[in-house]
Amino acid sequence: MRRKLLIGNWKMNSSLAANTILLNGIKAGAGKTGCEMAVCVPAPYFAQCQAELTGSNIAWGAQDVSTHDIGPYTGEISVAMLRDFGCRYAIVGHSERRMNHGETDQVVAEKARRAIVNGITPVVCVGETLAQREAGKTAEVVGQQLDAVLSAIEPDDLWNIVIAYEPVWAIGTGKTASPQIAQEVHAILRAKLSARNSAAASGIPILYGGSLRPDNAREILQMHDIDGCLVGGASLNASDFLAIAAAAS
Ligand code: PGA
Repeated sequence: MRRKLLIGNWKMNSSLAANTILLNGIKAGAGKTGCEMAVCVPAPYFAQCQAELTGSNIAWGAQDVSTHDIGPYTGEISVAMLRDFGCRYAIVGHSERRMNHGETDQVVAEKARRAIVNGITPVVCVGETLAQREAGKTAEVVGQQLDAVLSAIEPDDLWNIVIAYEPVWAIGTGKTASPQIAQEVHAILRAKLSARNSAAASGIPILYGGSLRPDNAREILQMHDIDGCLVGGASLNASDFLAIAAAAS
């Protein structure tokens, strides 16, 4: 049995005061769910998460990380800085970064590599746009995105990676991939991972993300290769987040 993992992606939302309410709400219900949980938060809130979540069973992390270690890179945040604040995860290659910041597969691969060698687990996001899906290119697109990362890391590094399939057309749109569509892509991703390191591939969580809510999570999460989820909007509400965690476990 693979572990079940639920990660909240707060994006550029929340505030110190709202975070306290949200984190306390999640902590209060976390013991009742059987799945691992984490929140990926804006960098100014790392310290708050460290203060409020240390000793709980909820991990925290970043939504991006620099490809550089140190130096004149205004506005960027290094892996070492994430470690200073106890971050366990860093999302890399989210479609909003690929689209709004021109991140290429190579940049995403370098971010993933740098995270892994410094002991942070990258949550590598892959996913096709609606036009790519309609052109029958889904397998090709997600395959290329994953291949770029796989060629930047060692086969053994696969023990410390999380993959998230997030169809771009499903993010924040209210449209969720059907369980069958999601399972089909997850199986393609797992087969690719398996070709690199079959033992690790069968243990790696592959998460689904895109308009997940308490009422649609269960049917997606029951699919064989779907091991949890990366949740945006619904992660900003403790009871919704916990209900998705319950569906995952
Ligand atoms: P959503 O976002 O759940 O709001 O669709 C998911 C994500 O972008 O990670």
